[in-house]
Amino acid sequence: MDDGTYAEVIGRQTKQMAGMIDQLLELSRLQTEVYELAPTELHQLLSATVEDYRTAFRHRNMELIVEDALPPQVWVMADGRKLESVLRNLLSNALKYSEGNEVRVSAEVRSDAVHFRIANNADTRNKAKWDQVWEPFFVMEESRSKQLSGTGLGLSITASILQKHGAAYGHEAEDGKAAFYFSLGVIGGNKK
Ligand SMILES: Nc1ncnc2c1ncn2[C@@H]1O[C@H](COP(=O)(O)OP(=O)(O)OP(=O)(O)O)[C@@H](O)[C@H]1O
Ligand SMILES: [Mg+2]
Repeated sequence: MDDGTYAEVIGRQTKQMAGMIDQLLELSRLQTEVYELAPTELHQLLSATVEDYRTAFRHRNMELIVEDALPPQVWVMADGRKLESVLRNLLSNALKYSEGNEVRVSAEVRSDAVHFRIANNADTRNKAKWDQVWEPFFVMEESRSKQLSGTGLGLSITASILQKHGAAYGHEAEDGKAAFYFSLGVIGGNKK
């Protein structure tokens, strides 16, 4: 009997599939595309993107702690929209997968580079799993069972964008804390 329930499931799955295809196409495009990097002011981009997430965090009763030690303006060579999607990827992961009720974001300029970091509580006992976290389609069982995970392409897309920017990036997973970070050289060193 189809009381509309099946149609709903099919509709939802079709939407998921379409989303996955979009992400896959984006990943392959990102890897071949030549980037047009231009001077971009990162402080404003960062603040605006983080502020965009405040409501989502509040809705989940989570605290978004921001430690912003940046000078008023931080100029980097970047594709602003792509860097924004990196920030969104990392913020939405922290929001979805944090095992605690706070997420800490920090940004500072050190040694002529801007350093961004986002940290949340997580189960970090299985080192081997964490080593795979940047790989396409990798989704941890815990997140899959929470029905939060997507297709596991977010971090590969993030990595691809950061590589094209010549940024250093990585993650730490230790003592129940997961942190994702990247750093990007500032234009003209640390001058304002
Ligand atoms: N901040 C985090 N804390 C804990 N686990 C994380 C965090 N970020 C990522 N993960 C784990 O790594 C997996 C891969 O992340 P990724 O962003 O690549 O994919 P996704 O979020 O599952 O799907 P998508 O981003 O494609 O919608 C997640 O499913 C989750 O298990
Ligand atoms: Mg993700």
